[in-house]
Amino acid sequence: MGKSALWLTTFTLILTGFLAARAQPEANFKCSSTNATCPGLIDYFSQNATTLKDIQKLFNVKHLPDLLGANANTIPENASGSYSVGPNKVVRIPFPCKCSNGTGLSNHVPLYKIKPGDGLDYIARTVFAGVVTYQQIQKANKIADPNKIVAGDSIWIPLPCSCDAVGGSSVVHYGYIVPTGSTVEGIAQEFGTTQETILSLNGLDDPKKLQAQQVIDVPLKACSTSVRNNSMDYPLLVSNGTYVYTANECVKCKCDSSNNYVLQCQPSLLKPTGGKWSVCPSMKCQGNLTIGNLTSASDDPCNRTFCAYAGYSSKTISAILANESTCPAPAPAPSGGSGGPGGSGGSGASRTTFSLIIVLHFIFLALYIL
Ligand SMILES: *[C@@H]1O[C@H](CO)[C@@H](O)[C@H](O)[C@H]1NC(C)=O
Ligand SMILES: *[C@@H]1O[C@H](CO)[C@@H](O)[C@H](O)[C@H]1NC(C)=O
Ligand SMILES: *[C@@H]1O[C@H](CO)[C@@H](O)[C@H](O)[C@H]1NC(C)=O
Ligand SMILES: *[C@@H]1O[C@H](CO)[C@@H](O)[C@H](O)[C@H]1NC(C)=O
Ligand SMILES: *[C@@H]1O[C@H](CO)[C@@H](O)[C@H](O)[C@H]1NC(C)=O
Ligand SMILES: *[C@@H]1O[C@H](CO)[C@@H](O)[C@H](O)[C@H]1NC(C)=O
Ligand SMILES: *[C@@H]1O[C@H](CO)[C@@H](O)[C@H](O)[C@H]1NC(C)=O
Ligand SMILES: *[C@@H]1O[C@H](CO)[C@@H](O)[C@H](O)[C@H]1NC(C)=O
Ligand SMILES: *[C@@H]1O[C@H](CO)[C@@H](O)[C@H](O)[C@H]1NC(C)=O
Ligand SMILES: *[C@@H]1O[C@H](CO)[C@@H](O)[C@H](O)[C@H]1NC(C)=O
Repeated sequence: MGKSALWLTTFTLILTGFLAARAQPEANFKCSSTNATCPGLIDYFSQNATTLKDIQKLFNVKHLPDLLGANANTIPENASGSYSVGPNKVVRIPFPCKCSNGTGLSNHVPLYKIKPGDGLDYIARTVFAGVVTYQQIQKANKIADPNKIVAGDSIWIPLPCSCDAVGGSSVVHYGYIVPTGSTVEGIAQEFGTTQETILSLNGLDDPKKLQAQQVIDVPLKACSTSVRNNSMDYPLLVSNGTYVYTANECVKCKCDSSNNYVLQCQPSLLKPTGGKWSVCPSMKCQGNLTIGNLTSASDDPCNRTFCAYAGYSSKTISAILANESTCPAPAPAPSGGSGGPGGSGGSGASRTTFSLIIVLHFIFLALYIL
């Protein structure tokens, strides 16, 4: 009897350890600005072949161009909803973020309608590809028993996000799925930040603790804007290499590091969506200058006056003349670290080794007990 009890205890302990080693750390992004709202961004890893339309629907992304803009580096601007996304691809999902209680969560989107046979863990791990855990869904929806969910009910999938500035700069907090073999240093280099910043944002005390497939908070520098703080889209955070449609899709704004991180906006020429407008309101600064136009008196390309987008209300779109230097800032001094993006791989994110050790332990213990 003593032996079987020991067996059971050992087995339970080992199983718990094994599961703990395999489980991804829960992503909780710090956000200290209570009630702040801002754009959030997170990776979705497609397990099976799918389409942009299905991804848009899954994450409740209102307009397809929003999805296209966030993925400007990988998906063509004229792609339609039927654009196919192969298995094992990463698509960046834009969503509204809201902060409270020291953390940021997607602002009550996406809503997922439970299908017959769905389990909470399946929804978290498979349908949403592990960007949240079932415990996070359970907590956000105040579900008493995770084994008792009802088909047809809608549940909120709380995606991690943040609206905090980092080092005094406006950033988009990007929920990045760590690819196998990457290092904190490599990720920092790829996204133009530092290892220290990533470690501190994610509460990691040791870069070796990075796990593959873990969701981490990577701050992406956002372009500067002239958007007023009372505008409905404030703060308009757009990161390098992406574009957004704003003011009910009437205005298109692009961010490019080669324009000195100054947001470049212009009329989108699209029909307004979502608002009460039947046509886009005027987007003029003064006289005949429209958003995106330069004043004629500008010989110096590094000191031009633009008609800049300044925000919108339920009635109007504001524009303002702004001095903007779009000449690239001098390149920052290279940091001391050696090795290119991706790092040397020696301490790459991996959970296989740990799992293996645990399996070996299990075998040895079993042999010992028998
Ligand atoms: C945040 O919003 C909630 C609900 O709207 C409100 O009760 C609370 O006072 C707000 N907190 C702050 C710090 O503004
Ligand atoms: C998108 O534009 C490219 C050229 O930029 C063109 O070759 C392609 O046919 C277009 N696709 C669609 C679906 O319009
Ligand atoms: C914030 O925390 C308080 C107390 O811990 C809790 O009552 C409240 O529901 C939390 N708010 C959110 C939005 O989670
Ligand atoms: C992907 O396909 C597999 C096998 O058909 C299925 O078990 C799984 O649920 C699918 N994943 C998603 C997210 O639909
Ligand atoms: C909004 O901007 C105005 C000046 O443009 C400033 O006086 C005000 O304090 C700002 N409000 C907030 C909440 O930041
Ligand atoms: C900005 O984005 C462009 C296009 O995606 C890319 O070529 C460039 O390297 C990026 N610059 C920085 C500083 O990240
Ligand atoms: C715009 O205004 C400038 C001077 O204010 C004038 O020279 C130019 O002809 C005008 N252009 C149009 C299209 O009206
Ligand atoms: C001003 O911007 C509008 C819209 O982008 C464009 O059609 C027009 O040619 C621009 N005018 C000048 C003078 O640059
Ligand atoms: C920028 O241009 C304006 C006039 O267009 C001029 O008054 C100003 O001195 C210039 N600033 C710099 C830093 O060159
Ligand atoms: C642009 O800069 C010049 C001097 O640098 C200044 O006199 C002018 O008021 C500025 N214009 C705007 C719209 O900020």
